[in-house]
Amino acid sequence: MSRIPGRAERVVSGMRPTGMLHLGHYHGVLKNWVRLQQEYDCLFFVADWHALTTHYEEPSVIAESVFGMIVYWLASGIDPRNAALFIQSHVPQHAELHTLLSMITPIPWLERVPTYKDQQMTLKDRDLSTYGFLGYPLLQSADILAYRATLVPVGEDQVAHIELTREIARRFNHLYGRKPGFEERAEEALAKLGKKAGKLYQELRASYQERGDVEALATARALLEKQQNVSLGDKERLFGYLEGGGRIILPEPQSLLTPSSKMPGIDGQKMSKSYNNTIALNEPPDVVVRKLRTMPTDPARVRRSDPGNPDACPVWPFHQVYSDDKTRAWVREGCTSAGIGCLECKQPVIDSVLRELAPIQERAVELERDPDQIRNIISEGDQRARDLAEETLADVRRCIGLDYHY
Ligand code: TRP
Ligand code: SF4
Repeated sequence: MSRIPGRAERVVSGMRPTGMLHLGHYHGVLKNWVRLQQEYDCLFFVADWHALTTHYEEPSVIAESVFGMIVYWLASGIDPRNAALFIQSHVPQHAELHTLLSMITPIPWLERVPTYKDQQMTLKDRDLSTYGFLGYPLLQSADILAYRATLVPVGEDQVAHIELTREIARRFNHLYGRKPGFEERAEEALAKLGKKAGKLYQELRASYQERGDVEALATARALLEKQQNVSLGDKERLFGYLEGGGRIILPEPQSLLTPSSKMPGIDGQKMSKSYNNTIALNEPPDVVVRKLRTMPTDPARVRRSDPGNPDACPVWPFHQVYSDDKTRAWVREGCTSAGIGCLECKQPVIDSVLRELAPIQERAVELERDPDQIRNIISEGDQRARDLAEETLADVRRCIGLDYHY
């Protein structure tokens, strides 16, 4: 159900172009996007400005990754008829909203976002004591709020960024959502609800505002949605009045936690370019075979005749992603009894990865044959994004009072 009356759920998500996509992106993000595009109004973008916050010293990586990223989104099943695909820096409204939001964002809110210090620690070889890096999650808030997105698919590590987005939206609405006379007009609208509904509305509003009772808020919203003799403007006023402030200009989005992908790297850690343990989506089959054949196994299993322990082996998580119960039982039995060798054990994984990548690579080759078609998809996505974001920005400027013309 939509939390904004009269509007369907809208999904926005972005990906940083800092290198070739790999199986971690495919299992952790893309498969999820492919599913979401069938259900929701989706916008997916290449977050090139976000990439620049960490790669400002080597921006060529970004330029080299953007086009291929979109090609592999398409090859993985993202359908431009179902989702707008665009490039963040082609939509200047993100930057404008970021600037405007920065005016109302207390610096400590940014400093206490966990990724800020974590990433500075992890990426020690980069100087991340920049204004842009501190503002990373605020730029992300602008990405989301520019479209009034209701749902944002993200991994665990990004939930704090969505929480910040919600706080910023709340603060913005509180500061700029009030219009002179709002309360009086809300009371007038309330009178039109009728005695019974009006009384219920007021009770629920009080429960929410005085005790933070979110169920009362939900009930009151449902009550409002049902009202037929109230104009849209009055309804909107009453929705806003429920939450205490005025009009909701920027609705608060929710994070849609991606079922955590267990996609392992070929060394047992999480698959990530910074660990150098990836299998890229464009990896040639012979390289895939070599990488998997040479990947480490249970270190205690030195000789073929030594029994092994799958739980101590980086190959096992691959079986968890790719193999069925029968194969997994075969692995456990064969490994712990030294009945199978490690290469034998890896073979079903190798076959599965090759089978998964083959159609993706075929489609990518096909798509790359017609770069103009890709350019068209991007420019249509860019245009749709700019149109939608401009609607929001026009409202935002007006609410702040920046819509003067001389
Ligand atoms: N920060 C996100 C990541 O690293 C990428 C991103 C940028 C994003 N803007 C966004 C994700 C907006 C969701 C919505 O994965
Ligand atoms: Fe790992 Fe398989 Fe070898 Fe066991 S048999 S150590 S699970 S690769």
